[in-house]
Amino acid sequence: MTVNRDACLGLDDQDPLKGFKDEFVLPHGVIYLVGNSLGALPRRTPERVARAVSEEWGRELVGGWNSAGWYAQPLTTGDRLAPLIGAGAGQVVVGNTTSITVFQAVSAALRLRPGRRVIVGDVTNFPTDNYMLEGLVKALGGDYEIRDFAEPLGDDVAVVLLSEVNYRTGARYDVPAVTARVQAAGALMVWDVCHSAGAMQVDVSMADFAIGCTYKYLNGGPGAPAFLYVNPRHQADAENVLSGWYAHAEPFAFEAGFRPADGIRRFTVSTPHVLSFAALEAALDMWERVDMAEVRAKSVALTSLFIDLVEAGTDLELASPRDPERRGSQVCFTHPDGYPVMRALIDRGVHGDFRAPDILRFGFAPLYIGYADVYDAARTLIEVLGKELWRDEKYAQRLAVT
Ligand SMILES: Cc1ncc(COP(=O)(O)O)c(C=O)c1O
Repeated sequence: MTVNRDACLGLDDQDPLKGFKDEFVLPHGVIYLVGNSLGALPRRTPERVARAVSEEWGRELVGGWNSAGWYAQPLTTGDRLAPLIGAGAGQVVVGNTTSITVFQAVSAALRLRPGRRVIVGDVTNFPTDNYMLEGLVKALGGDYEIRDFAEPLGDDVAVVLLSEVNYRTGARYDVPAVTARVQAAGALMVWDVCHSAGAMQVDVSMADFAIGCTYKYLNGGPGAPAFLYVNPRHQADAENVLSGWYAHAEPFAFEAGFRPADGIRRFTVSTPHVLSFAALEAALDMWERVDMAEVRAKSVALTSLFIDLVEAGTDLELASPRDPERRGSQVCFTHPDGYPVMRALIDRGVHGDFRAPDILRFGFAPLYIGYADVYDAARTLIEVLGKELWRDEKYAQRLAVT
């Protein structure tokens, strides 16, 4: 090993973010390297959710829509989240799911580029992004073509949808350079920042649209609402084809026909998931005190340390970029028996996940993962492989969620 455990404890001691670990509920004996899938529970969340249930719902009943601010949640929470993705007030709505926001953003972009019939995706993107593009093309009567980003960008391309950080490998696009290239080709750029929001300084301000989830690094909880950013230059013209009543200019006029609201409210759809918003708000109370430059610096240090330690003790092949600048906050290795290897690791308290066909995926959430955690996780992985502990047949059977 290149570094010893004491040196890692020393790094933890000097860590400017060290105080945040106590703000999370983490089961004893677990090193949780899956914060890139479902973020850990902030300690303040149960009380906030209980208050939303007992005091807001229990006492205010339907009055909660006004008195507890439920009605405005998509916008007020959007304004609170905006600084985390480099956006300003009035540019972000929260609600729905990431997949739904993909549909909204790409369909709005297509209507802003009416003469162009090509949508560009990335075959390596998280599948739902591409599945939603397929569904959208069907809904539009099939008059559109989907191409991969590896192909040249022609003047027939209306919109490009990419993820800043790849869910499987952690590879990170150069957002300013790609955005500039896409826009120079006359197309609109939609960024999915699911795997970067909360892990680094995200800057969507050049993008035309951006979308993302809040249940990964942002710790909003299982099923937490998604977000949608609409660049102010499009807000007057962009259309929301999911024209639910919340997006109407006067929802409580209950008019027969749809008239879009001005501004970002036009991109809401319908009744917010109030209890999920309460959990997200508790997480944002914490995020407002976080310096994202410190988060990114620690993320780079943790992921680099993990790579060094694992490569010094195993012959695993790195599937993530070696250059930290081109990497998100996760590290992936390939192993032909990746599934039982991951099960054996989880059995020993090191929680990563497996992505078919052969990826061992480890996410590093800098607010609650420390240097000694990285050391212990690497040592456990080295032991599982070195002693072939993964060969125990109890690890072979696949669970529904990997
Ligand atoms: C890049 C990306 N987009 C979308 C999603 C999920 O979409 P949804 O929140 O609609 O389930 C994920 C989930 O991990 C993802 O990694």
